Amino acid sequence: MRILGIETSCDETGVAIYDGKKGILANFLHSQVATHAKYGGVVPELAARDHIRKLLPLIRESLAYTHLNKQDINAVAYTAGPGLIGALLVGASVGRSLAWAWNIPAIPIHHMEGHLLSPMLEPDPPKFPFCALLVSGGHTLLIAVKEIGKYHVLGESLDDAVGEAFDKTAKLLGLTYPGGPALAKLAEFGNPHRFYFPRPMLDRPDLNFSFSGLKTYALNTFRKYGIESAPDIACAFQDAVVDVLVSKSCRALQQTGYKCLIIAGGVSANQALRNQFSAISKKMKIKVYYPRLDFCTDNGAMIAFAGYQSLISGRKIDLNFKVRPKWSLRDLYLT
Ligand code: KG4
Ligand code: ZN
Repeated sequence: MRILGIETSCDETGVAIYDGKKGILANFLHSQVATHAKYGGVVPELAARDHIRKLLPLIRESLAYTHLNKQDINAVAYTAGPGLIGALLVGASVGRSLAWAWNIPAIPIHHMEGHLLSPMLEPDPPKFPFCALLVSGGHTLLIAVKEIGKYHVLGESLDDAVGEAFDKTAKLLGLTYPGGPALAKLAEFGNPHRFYFPRPMLDRPDLNFSFSGLKTYALNTFRKYGIESAPDIACAFQDAVVDVLVSKSCRALQQTGYKCLIIAGGVSANQALRNQFSAISKKMKIKVYYPRLDFCTDNGAMIAFAGYQSLISGRKIDLNFKVRPKWSLRDLYLT
């Protein structure tokens, strides 16, 4: 069985073909970084227009690359939310139109379920049950995963998502969009002992997060010490974020009794985060899994894979599904 996956929730146009037996056959991505960079962030209308320009050529390229025809595709999976409405509508319209023309199912996929399942595309996939830490530009989630489709949200960010906090802090330090990777790079040159930032929410027993205060703390420190201190501020900010993520993830593992943690979403590419989790996994005797770097950020492969899992699990597919700019994983089955 082969699934065509389409991702257009934000600023990357992703297209992939997943084969149930052979795995990922094609994975193509067009990044819109150049389009948005001069505005310092994603401009939703430009994102949607660019998806329109790039999506069909990428689908053609994927089919040509794999030497497959439309008859070889058994379903189309598309990101139905959460994300930017205009951007989502492009993927949904194209995905559903193709599925209708090819007489195959169109499967709406929750973007965060795509991220959650992405480590399962690696050669040594995690085994259920496990905890999942999802850290992207729009979400910070801790989830207990019993099996595919059984997701219990343990905690989430009450304000900014981790990636968003990285991006906003990077911007105030004068770094260009996309800020997360730029801030991480700058932090490599910082003195880790110069500043110590607060660890928000660690004094609370629950598994929720809050990152917006850290951004303000960074701003105040920046105003006081100036641009020469930017690398030290980046370092202190990143250390605080990683510390909180590690502590709450460990608590989630203790509470569930699970021995396995997967970390996915754009921020899971962060090296400082990986180093900390690697150290703690040895101490706590737990296994930590990530997607490959290409699959940490948005891509079509995770959507194709989630579509495949959805199809073989017999999940009901709603043909009238409307895209959902806001869509909690808690409501995965509410249509
Ligand atoms: O998963 P993703 O591609 O898109 C969303 O679903 O939001 O995540 C993008 C986020 C951005 O906020 C970006 O700055 C952040 O992931 N990011 C990073 C790194 N690479 C990407 N943050 C910190 N360090 C990185 N190396
Ligand atoms: Zn994402």
